[in-house]
Amino acid sequence: MVDRRAAGLPLEHVLGWADFCGLRIALDPGVFVPRRRTEFLVRQATALARESGSPDRQALARPRTVVVDLCCGSGAVGAALVAALDRVELHAVDIDPAAVRCARRNVAAAGGQAYVGDLYEPLPAALRGRVDVLVANAPYVPTDEVGLLPPEARLHEPLLALDGGADGLDVLRRVTAAAPLWLAPGGHLLVETSERQAPRTIETVARSGLIPRVASSDELNSTVVIGTRPALPSGPSGSADS
Ligand SMILES: C[S@@+](CC[C@H](N)C(=O)[O-])C[C@H]1O[C@@H](n2cnc3c(N)ncnc32)[C@H](O)[C@@H]1O
Repeated sequence: MVDRRAAGLPLEHVLGWADFCGLRIALDPGVFVPRRRTEFLVRQATALARESGSPDRQALARPRTVVVDLCCGSGAVGAALVAALDRVELHAVDIDPAAVRCARRNVAAAGGQAYVGDLYEPLPAALRGRVDVLVANAPYVPTDEVGLLPPEARLHEPLLALDGGADGLDVLRRVTAAAPLWLAPGGHLLVETSERQAPRTIETVARSGLIPRVASSDELNSTVVIGTRPALPSGPSGSADS
């Protein structure tokens, strides 16, 4: 193990697990190592799920919070949400079969499902319009900057997990454009981005019809853009279920 670490393999790949939100996340070599800064995405998603959860969901007889973790990698974000929230129906997707093998191990105990495929493509159609919390820590490094990453990322994590295209927002644009179709009224999309990319990410979210806002943590050097699908008007003619 010391030899592998000294040769440059990320510690988490040597150990076979990563610490994330206090959980031990199983991690195979070649799968993206969950970052400390992403714990902020989990915190934001947890707070929103708790806030928006109870009354509406009881009224709609929907007892479980429906969570989708797109670009799930090892499944760390979804697993942490399951651990933090009471009752969660979790669906996680990644295009990389090696990542999904890890995700299955990490979310199985909570009854979560993990699928291989391109963003929303493998999700059950029945989830459309039902997702309360949609999280995506998608690749967001601009192509020209991938070469500047530390060797542990550059050499030991797949390019597909890092490279977000010319301005870093290619995958995020696709995630955002389709989000309103999958979110429940009042549901939230949360994407990790960088401080520099936040204004563009906000624009993208606003263009999709979601109500955008940004949350950031200096402590974790983390920026999250949140887009909320407007809730249905309440009242006699516009009750949430009508
Ligand atoms: C930055 S990593 C984040 C992984 C995980 N969410 C985390 O925070 O640890 C991005 C992940 O997105 C996946 N990915 C890239 N393009 C994708 C696509 N079109 N559809 C689904 N997953 C994709 C990569 O395989 C990689 O696992």
